[in-house]
Amino acid sequence: MTTPDADPDPETADVGRRRFFRQFAGELINGAAGVVGAAQALQRASAEAAGAILNPSSVAGQVPAIPDLPTGFRAAFRESPGVLHIVDQRQLPDRLEEFDARSAAEVAYAIKEMIIRGAPAIGQAAAIGLALTGNKNRGAGPYARRATFRGAANLLRNARPTAINLRWAVDRVMAAVDEIGDLSEDGDAIADAMRAEADAIVHEATEDHGRMTAAALAALTFPDDRPLRVLTHCNTGPLACGQFGTALGVIQAAHHGGRAVHVWVDETRPNLQGARLTAWELAQAGVPHTLIPDVAAGHLMARGEVDVVLVGADRIVANGDTANKVGTYTLAVLAARHEVPFYVVAPISTVDLATPDGGGIPIEERSAAEVVAVRGVRIAPPDTDVRNPAFDVTPADLITAIVTEEGVVTAPFPVGLAEAVARREGRRATSPRFSDLAISAASSGA
Ligand code: MRU
Repeated sequence: MTTPDADPDPETADVGRRRFFRQFAGELINGAAGVVGAAQALQRASAEAAGAILNPSSVAGQVPAIPDLPTGFRAAFRESPGVLHIVDQRQLPDRLEEFDARSAAEVAYAIKEMIIRGAPAIGQAAAIGLALTGNKNRGAGPYARRATFRGAANLLRNARPTAINLRWAVDRVMAAVDEIGDLSEDGDAIADAMRAEADAIVHEATEDHGRMTAAALAALTFPDDRPLRVLTHCNTGPLACGQFGTALGVIQAAHHGGRAVHVWVDETRPNLQGARLTAWELAQAGVPHTLIPDVAAGHLMARGEVDVVLVGADRIVANGDTANKVGTYTLAVLAARHEVPFYVVAPISTVDLATPDGGGIPIEERSAAEVVAVRGVRIAPPDTDVRNPAFDVTPADLITAIVTEEGVVTAPFPVGLAEAVARREGRRATSPRFSDLAISAASSGA
């Protein structure tokens, strides 16, 4: 496993960090797009740029050093020809290892086992997995190819049921196949279309997350005389989102934009995404933070030590009810009790207008093993009966605002969400296709 070289000059690194976050959704991506396999170039460019910038050696003194833990920021995945290299998030923060997937089925396995997790990241990985399978089937007969693709798509859709981004991304790639004709003889055209759609999904996510962050920063009020004290749950940074992040993207952008923030990081039982991943990502980025047991959130709010709660989402339905990592609902109830603003930060790809309210959201139930043991050490008597819902639903009336790339949506959510989805679709319809951007960058020698 390689990690980016250290930047020995903290000032250079700081300027670089700020520039990276300002330009994240802009020319960095377009410049990287002028080669075949644009998602691959995009991932590599963003990971390298961020890796060179978010280097812990450049923030020595701000965040206590953690001996013997892997350092060097990593995006959730990168590609080399025919391989999706996925950071194995189960191993973090102890080890920075990659799991190599060469097909949709292998990506589905990685998603199910939470080697990669977080709603936007699993959507992007699924799209690339389908593109890899498309590439392998260029020469297959139409019927065999159709069966393979349908099976792969179903495997991916069912790998994790709550995050709508997963189904949304798979449906987009399959729609690109259908546009050509899923029984077409032209396996090359189909494979190229799948690749182009996967690239577009990654590219659009980068742009959208940048816009979403800008909208959230404009909506937050930062105190003049002290840091904004943000409480967050689970992990919503680059590991969860492919590139930038939702709630944690906002936090990092605030920090790198020179606004003082301090983050209360919920440990997030039972998988400990907060303790293992959010604390690790914030350390890499130099953002001041404090890890708390999930159950301490109410105490801190009661003492007036939380200014705002920022969380991501796995699915936001038509009336604004929002599914996110289990424990989010509890936080929303506490926030309402203590009059702490509660913001959901999520891209439109997380919005599911076809489901009217939270009662229709499938909630994934995971294995007992995640609860009865912590990192392989059993903590409960053997044979203890366990219930392990991975998500819960926060009713819309507990949410102050939902921040998307189309702006800040407040109640009445059904109207605001429908309008935001329409604006997003309009923007997509009038934006150049990512494949065209990649071609023009290549022909202009970028
Ligand atoms: O089970 P996980 O780790 O995939 O759950 C992730 C979350 O709940 C995130 O908050 C969510 O995906 C929103 S933003 C990445």
